[in-house]
Amino acid sequence: MTRHFLQLSDLSAAEAASVISRAQQLKASRDTSYRPFVGKTLAMIFAKNSTRTRVSFEAGMARFGGHALFLHSGVTQLGRDEPIADTARVLSRMCDAIMIRNDSQADQAELAAYSRVPVINGLSELHHPCQLLADMQTWVEHRGDAAGKTAAWIGDGNNVCHSMIQAATLFGFKLRIAAPDGYLPDAGIVAIAGDAVSLCGSAAEAVAGVDLVATDTWTSMGQEAETAKRLKAFDGYQVDDALMQLAKPDALFMHCLPAHRGEEVTANVIDGAQSVVWDEAENRLWAQMALLEFLLAA
Ligand code: CP
Ligand code: NVA
Repeated sequence: MTRHFLQLSDLSAAEAASVISRAQQLKASRDTSYRPFVGKTLAMIFAKNSTRTRVSFEAGMARFGGHALFLHSGVTQLGRDEPIADTARVLSRMCDAIMIRNDSQADQAELAAYSRVPVINGLSELHHPCQLLADMQTWVEHRGDAAGKTAAWIGDGNNVCHSMIQAATLFGFKLRIAAPDGYLPDAGIVAIAGDAVSLCGSAAEAVAGVDLVATDTWTSMGQEAETAKRLKAFDGYQVDDALMQLAKPDALFMHCLPAHRGEEVTANVIDGAQSVVWDEAENRLWAQMALLEFLLAA
């Protein structure tokens, strides 16, 4: 049966662990002679901007001997209201996998329902599962197994936060979330995670003694009209040196990027010794190569 990757919980814990360990292997070997995807094409539909997601999928397909097709949705017939189901049926007869970044988890599910080939969520309004594969690879690479450890999410309870919640269940770590009222993560996603996730009253409470501190922009793509309101709402949720000092001395700092220095994080923290954001960005490449290998073999 065709496997899709629309949210992190589409993988079992064992599958997720094996994707991460394969990603580490691929990174360690950097073997450009291994080309399992010769003749294969990944269609990449983007309704939103991207640097990392586009480049990592494109470079990953190239390393594997395949091809990636960049489709800005606005210049395809999707931009002229061709149904998503018809698009799925057509693309999946010509391509071997489809990646989509848009603002609708529901449309992504419909795309998958009508696709003969794996569909990958490259970010939606609800999830960013590829990001968390790279984040988990980065955590393991720097500190070993995440099981039994604790992370803090500071700021917006957004798409990346939702995927981190699912990562906590899948990889066995605890996640403490500090977000202002009105910006909490989806209650249903939090509830499914049970005691893996707790909501904290302040950023300081969330980071106390943790192994990892993560944040993201306060204004996600599509929310630009709310920027001024959000800047006010997130006052007190900046990750700065004082906050990092409350975490374990060897705590890592992560951010999916793009970052806004002086807003959700200070330059000192993101450009400092505890930050692993560049490894995190690089690992999008290796983690997604491992994911593509897994989905195309399934
Ligand atoms: N982190 C991430 O998905 O980056 P892009 O928006 O540049 O793809
Ligand atoms: N939460 C951000 C992530 C960008 C990679 C957004 O949705 O814009």
